[in-house]
Amino acid sequence: MGYVCCTRRGAALEPGIAHNKAGTADLAQSAPDLHDRFGRRISYLRVSLTEHCNLRCQYCSPEDGTPLFARKDHLAPDELDRLLGVFHALGVRHMRFTGGEPLLYPWLVDRVARARDLGVEKLSVSTNGYLLDRLAQPLAQAGLRRINMSLDSLSAERFSRITRGGDLRRVLRGLFLARDCIPHIKLNVVLLKDENLDEVPELVGFALREGFDIQFIETMPLGIAGSVSRAQSYASVAEAEERIRRSHALEARPRAADDGPARRFGVAGYAGEIGFISPISQNFCAGCNRVRLTSTGRLVYCLGQEDGVDLLGPLRGGFTDEALADFIRHKVWHEKPERHTFNDEPGRAAPVYMMRLGG
Ligand code: GTP
Ligand code: 5AD
Ligand code: SF4
Repeated sequence: MGYVCCTRRGAALEPGIAHNKAGTADLAQSAPDLHDRFGRRISYLRVSLTEHCNLRCQYCSPEDGTPLFARKDHLAPDELDRLLGVFHALGVRHMRFTGGEPLLYPWLVDRVARARDLGVEKLSVSTNGYLLDRLAQPLAQAGLRRINMSLDSLSAERFSRITRGGDLRRVLRGLFLARDCIPHIKLNVVLLKDENLDEVPELVGFALREGFDIQFIETMPLGIAGSVSRAQSYASVAEAEERIRRSHALEARPRAADDGPARRFGVAGYAGEIGFISPISQNFCAGCNRVRLTSTGRLVYCLGQEDGVDLLGPLRGGFTDEALADFIRHKVWHEKPERHTFNDEPGRAAPVYMMRLGG
């Protein structure tokens, strides 16, 4: 790795890295946390476990799915465990397993247990809910306390159209079984002007009554699917918020240091929160605290770009954990972009497959 470790760039100084005799960084001695050159601390890793999905949501996936990588190009479970350990040593305290559909990944329960054993403070899974009826209980037993589940409509017909064939009853069955054993459940609604914008009040009523958090998300122009859905059906979160305010007084919740992109609100008398994620109408990149790992071992710095850097090669090429940490720290510092560019060229989709990056 031919690079200089301590470089001045603008106001920020790349954290110092102590080197041992082998020329690799010593994790115990170096300033361990991940930072980028825009002054942001990266404490959150989103891990896409699989490219496979059992649904084909309009805004996420082309009708025929996405091209798949060969099996040998995917991280094996023990390789993933090593990387989780390295990221934890780099100060990552929040991990989320995504996909594709992470509940299709055969070793998910063990990875949850591994992250728990590492001491990850906030651990969650983003799922379409299709397999929760079987897996909610084992996941809870492995230590999972949080899930985010897609629920774009409460109409069986619309749900099936949006997901291209999904069965709403099955997802709701999984959701209610999960509620019995997983305490924090958040519903994700991707706003689609012609499909569910009019349903926002009903979705909020459902979430509040049943004790779930809910968040409304502007559709992002990612890959072919994203650009099609955005061009045809983009709606801003302001439109959803306005509809909710007609019947509910929203109380703004203070932001916590490690909060995600959502602006969060409570409603008097209910435990659940309502969130709004506005990547298009109100950029939130200044507070970004995350990077992504794909199932093929690529570290991706931003949702708006799929290139990133390969970690599988170094991992299989004999890098020690310390050398991997050093490499990751350096790459994130130099290469994480300041923000996404979704709005720079309207009509152009980011060259990203949501099914690989997991949102
Ligand atoms: P926490 O912050 O961990 O509570 O979760 P989250 O809401 O970020 O996770 P989830 O997987 O449910 O994602 C909800 C929506 O937020 C999805 O549409 C994601 O693509 C989007 N999202 C999550 N992180 C980012 C981000 O860093 N940038 C952008 N533009 N969108 C994001
Ligand atoms: N734009 C916005 N959100 C998306 N998701 C998937 N594709 C998109 C898109 N194009 C969201 C879904 C899922 C979460 C992980 O990502 O709500 O729950
Ligand atoms: Fe961070 Fe990129 Fe998301 Fe912006 S779009 S918040 S920079 S990951």
